[in-house]
Amino acid sequence: MAPRRNAGPGPGGRPDPAPPSPLPADSEKTARVRAMFDTIAPRYDLVNRLMTFGLDQRWRRVTVDALALPAGARILDLACGTGDLSRAAAKRGHTVVGTDLSAGMLAANQAHTPLVESDGSRLSFADGTFDGLVCGYALRNFTDLAATFAEAGRVLRPGGRLAVLEVDAPTSGLWRFGFDVWFNKVVPVLGGALSDRAAYRYLPASVAYLPPTPVLRQMLLDAGFSAVGIRPLAGGLSQLVVATRAGTPPPPSPSLSP
Ligand SMILES: C[S@@+](CC[C@H](N)C(=O)[O-])C[C@H]1O[C@@H](n2cnc3c(N)ncnc32)[C@H](O)[C@@H]1O
Repeated sequence: MAPRRNAGPGPGGRPDPAPPSPLPADSEKTARVRAMFDTIAPRYDLVNRLMTFGLDQRWRRVTVDALALPAGARILDLACGTGDLSRAAAKRGHTVVGTDLSAGMLAANQAHTPLVESDGSRLSFADGTFDGLVCGYALRNFTDLAATFAEAGRVLRPGGRLAVLEVDAPTSGLWRFGFDVWFNKVVPVLGGALSDRAAYRYLPASVAYLPPTPVLRQMLLDAGFSAVGIRPLAGGLSQLVVATRAGTPPPPSPSLSP
């Protein structure tokens, strides 16, 4: 998905050229994103904890619980990275498989689950393999979001559940100001000092890739999901997207016991 830009008319009524941006366009995005996460993988968890004051761990538990699936459910952690969501799901007794584009992130994965290196828009799992799918802070990084949602719907069984955690921006005054300073000014410096400067400039800028909420909802409906719910977490510091794979769940297989 191409980033949204705010190009206004320039001198003489001509449109301004697009502002310089660290955001790659469609054709080069996947390769740039993969290389970036390969680079930052070793210190990804450390920077994440500092960036969110550890709150991300709580939001991950909320995400897994939003699946509302019984223990033992088969869960795909899409764009699993270092495996925080996988661990949260495993702690709830689920059977988890992780998949990610970046070999570096998979090498740093600590979740002790089966791992598959793949692009979310071209998954190798059979139709209806999973009861649930979680995805943390990755929507902005997908090149083809519609294809990725279609794949998510394909690998979920009818009635399967999707829970996506993503960044958001608070709307109320002071909270918004504090967020802007932290996310746009402090995080790039912190991430630059501890990890990779270019990657942590990309992070706040990549929010421009996120579709507006109504568009996101419609994309999920188009991909075969129903009951789409999108709600802010912690006053809008993050957002949680939940949906159900449309279709009638298959009847339970007949019991062999008398
Ligand atoms: C910000 S990290 C989030 C990692 C992890 N889900 C978490 O919650 O910490 C984004 C992840 O998305 C992965 N990613 C980006 N584009 C992808 C794609 N097209 N297919 C699969 N994974 C992708 C990156 O490699 C990276 O691990």
